[in-house]
Amino acid sequence: MYLELVAILLTTLFVWDYLRFRRHNKMYAAAGIRGPTCYPFVGNAPMMINESPKTVFDLQFRLIAQYGKNVKIQMMGERGFMTADPKMIEAIMSSQQTIQKNNLYGLLTNWLGDGLLVSKGQKWFRRRKIITPAFHFKILEDFVEVFDQQSAIMAQQLHAKADGKTVINMFPVACLCAMDIIAETAMGVKINAQLQPDFPYVQSVKNASATLAERFMNPLQRQDALMRLFYPKVLDKLNDSVSNMHSFTNSVITERRDLLQKSLAGNAPLLNDVGQKRRMALLDVLLQSTIDGAPLSNEDIREEVDTFMFEGHDTTTSSIAFTCYLLARNPEAQALAFQEIRDVLGDDKSAPVTMQQLGELKYLECVIKESLRLFPSVPLIGRHITQDTMLAGKLIPAHSDVVILIYHAQRDPEYFPEPEKFLPERFSMERKGEINPFAYTPFSAGARNCIGQKFAMLEMKSTISKMLRHFELLPLGEEVQPVLNLILRSSTGINVGIKPRVY
Ligand code: HEM
Repeated sequence: MYLELVAILLTTLFVWDYLRFRRHNKMYAAAGIRGPTCYPFVGNAPMMINESPKTVFDLQFRLIAQYGKNVKIQMMGERGFMTADPKMIEAIMSSQQTIQKNNLYGLLTNWLGDGLLVSKGQKWFRRRKIITPAFHFKILEDFVEVFDQQSAIMAQQLHAKADGKTVINMFPVACLCAMDIIAETAMGVKINAQLQPDFPYVQSVKNASATLAERFMNPLQRQDALMRLFYPKVLDKLNDSVSNMHSFTNSVITERRDLLQKSLAGNAPLLNDVGQKRRMALLDVLLQSTIDGAPLSNEDIREEVDTFMFEGHDTTTSSIAFTCYLLARNPEAQALAFQEIRDVLGDDKSAPVTMQQLGELKYLECVIKESLRLFPSVPLIGRHITQDTMLAGKLIPAHSDVVILIYHAQRDPEYFPEPEKFLPERFSMERKGEINPFAYTPFSAGARNCIGQKFAMLEMKSTISKMLRHFELLPLGEEVQPVLNLILRSSTGINVGIKPRVY
């Protein structure tokens, strides 16, 4: 009797699942998008059981080889497809109908609320409009000083290990520097992460970033309820970190709002500790913005500042670290980059670097772009399609989840000959126009592209040029093993050796 009941229940669920998704499956078949065998309810989840963050890229390469650049996929109840096809990527990134993020981004809302990265519809549109001026050329120009000062601290601290023998994992080093930079530019406060890594806010950002990376990859950590059951301590620690970060951000916002109001009332400019006119932080732009004539609340501002903190430190960290790694292993490119830096910035390492000088580091820019091709900090992104939509000649059914495989598209031999080779010349002015802009999208593209792209490029040029002015980078330590952990990391570290440059 018991077995019969189970059999009836399973058959009913099976038929319900089949009927519910019959239209979906038919439309994918008509669009010619195929994929591995799907099981009722769980979809392709069993295929993932043996995969780890280390092997998931290889699995995706195998699926592309077998089914083509668009692969139908289902994870539990979420159905859709993965794409590494530049024509499809172009259609998705260029359409206003496909700008909504998929459910996975919900994991970030504890920390980021409904900030720019996750928000949708009118809210996203209005926020994007008022946040865009915060990344204006004039504001970025002021940030160059911060990039320069914080990179100098990074270099200064590394001198103790510059013996040409010690293996240095660049990820944690660059991470503290990137945290200092984003805190000072987004909130206008120095958190001294490099000098005091134990500062509670720094610890909380590190812990929350690591836990979110873990949640992203582990289905048992996706829902708070499941996490409470299987990983209660990790959830408690995450909640503590989030509440610690929120109270820190709140206090900074309140303080800056008060100061701003006092300065407006007294019609006097805001001054810093040494009596100079104070640099605008991204937060100040938000404090002065209005939507329909109303200022943003502290809560509104907090979610955007937290989004900058999250989106603006791990991404640049990953890229700075991978670029140092690649330069260490490609001495010719390193020599060319160093020569250019010397020509543009001169030999006085203490002279402040300007935005114009950073703009002149053209070869270094090619190096960074090529590094972002091989090791994109954001290796994949997700979208949710809410209604039937024609994309690249294929009718995609409503309620599809799409995963854009940036990592794979950027290693496609059809678009990048000798894709595994580090060839910065691909991005040279002479070869302008050779690269398909939708095969190469480390900063995404279209309406939902990275708002911090120019900020990031300046920061990376500043930190990497500082490294090269002080040190010769050497190919020490294990090779990288790229892993998908929310952003791109390496399970073996991102290792280099360094020795002081004598010149
Ligand atoms: C190497 C560094 C960086 C890379 C590779 C990168 C990449 C990206 C990508 C691929 C997206 C699209 C995400 C998606 O569609 O889900 C994105 C969005 C975003 N990025 Fe960046 N990013 C970098 C640095 C930064 C920095 C420094 C900031 C802020 C200071 C920033 C702020 C944002 C924000 C707010 C969004 C959401 C934009 C929106 O949805 O309207 N990013 N970034």
